Amino acid sequence: MSISDFSGSALTSALTEPVTVSWRSPSNIALVKYWGKKGLQLPVNPSLSMTLSAANTETKLTVLPRKSEGDVSLDFWFEGAKNDAFGYRISRFLNSITPVFPWLRQVNLKIETSNTFPHSAGIASSASAFSALALCLCSMDADLFGILLSEDEFRNKASYVARLGSGSACRSVFPGFSVWGSSRALSGSTDQLAVPVPDVHAVFFTLRDTILMVNKKEKPVSSSEGHSRMTGHPFAAARIKQARKNTSELLDALKTGNKVAFIRIVENEAFTLHSLMMTSEEGFMLMEPETVRIISRIQELRKETGLDICFTLDAGPNVHLLYFEEQFEQVNKLIVEDLLKNNKQNMRMDDFYGKGPVKLG
Ligand code: PMV
Repeated sequence: MSISDFSGSALTSALTEPVTVSWRSPSNIALVKYWGKKGLQLPVNPSLSMTLSAANTETKLTVLPRKSEGDVSLDFWFEGAKNDAFGYRISRFLNSITPVFPWLRQVNLKIETSNTFPHSAGIASSASAFSALALCLCSMDADLFGILLSEDEFRNKASYVARLGSGSACRSVFPGFSVWGSSRALSGSTDQLAVPVPDVHAVFFTLRDTILMVNKKEKPVSSSEGHSRMTGHPFAAARIKQARKNTSELLDALKTGNKVAFIRIVENEAFTLHSLMMTSEEGFMLMEPETVRIISRIQELRKETGLDICFTLDAGPNVHLLYFEEQFEQVNKLIVEDLLKNNKQNMRMDDFYGKGPVKLG
């Protein structure tokens, strides 16, 4: 599969009036981590994530008539204000996908986007942002040319386009659990786009993710810089092998409802991600003392209480506490009275298993 499989059409006559589409798309939390890339934004290992529900990006794309053809012409608005810094990154992305959407060079574009979570919450917004934008582009393409794709074809194309913007975004196009990256354990999985996990035990539909905020500041090393530090990493080969094994075992745990295996694999992946950062040639650390305190306490509390709680980490210091709906009350008490008791602002964000993106208009 390559970009030519998705190459689209140019407009044959000029647009006469504005056309608008809008989508809301959620973020996702990786349980098996994508860390390291090759080629054109392809992953070096398979990853598996859960699409969330509360952390969303809402994006409205308007195409307007334009007199002459050329590079992408974009007017970009973020949370009600013009934002040239974000606009620049989005323009670069849009110029790179003109083979898929040749009409991008024939119109003026306006993008208005906002997040349903605070920008400072320390939540990676690129997954929700690029999935929302990719869905808008695919909807617009379908509207402009009257293309009728099946639901599966539409989602696959959106996932492919989202991946080119930000790797992890390709997984947000699907509800629930999805896998990105070729894995022998899941037929149809590919490096080009994400695929939904077909067989999930009902117990995992009740999974919750409460983000315990340790630091809201911008991280010192971006995730794209982090990915690049995997090139030539002394443990790269072992990591790829481990991610394949963890993907396969997590798929099995999701299918059979095995919470014990789920907890073991998810924490192993979080520790591995941050170990890889620390052991790269130019080592760096995104965990903070408070991160370490909280994750150690989660492990102790699991032993003390017997509750099915575990943690994962993104490329940052904030802790994602994972647990099940039926234990919400007990876990919430632990969050308030123990895990966040020294956190004066009690900074948390409650999220849970999500049903995927929604078309708003
Ligand atoms: O999609 P990116 O380039 O922001 O990378 C995401 C990397 C992790 O969040 C650490 C892991 C993942 O699979 O989402």
